[in-house]
Amino acid sequence: MDKLKFIPKSLIMEHELIDFDHNNLFSLFDKVSKIIKKKENIDELDNIIEELVNYTSVHFENEEKLMSTANYPYFKQHRLKHKMMLAHVHGYLVRFNSENESKRNIAVDINDFIKSWLEIHIEMEDMYLGNYLNKL
Ligand SMILES: [Fe+2]
Repeated sequence: MDKLKFIPKSLIMEHELIDFDHNNLFSLFDKVSKIIKKKENIDELDNIIEELVNYTSVHFENEEKLMSTANYPYFKQHRLKHKMMLAHVHGYLVRFNSENESKRNIAVDINDFIKSWLEIHIEMEDMYLGNYLNKL
């Protein structure tokens, strides 16, 4: 799986679609970090944060479709984790879109939050899902 070059090896689940999404998310974390370091171009920052949040949400929908189709026994609990996470991200976005705080600092928080949440979530929840799907 050479093309999975952004995701840490220990987080690869050997499930093609989910690994593909996770790898794209890790690639986005890198992109966001690079854009945050640039001094100018707030528009670019807006766009990349929007892309990161949208991709996270689309990825959750993709996983939820797989779980639903496969009658995954922990579907409801897993979906609840996704929902709670997105609610948390929404809180960050409210701050990101307000004029009161530094956009760059909140972008760092959003990126760090999604990245560390995802790392734990893959280890704690997605791995079980991957094992289940791979046994079907
Ligand atoms: Fe998940």
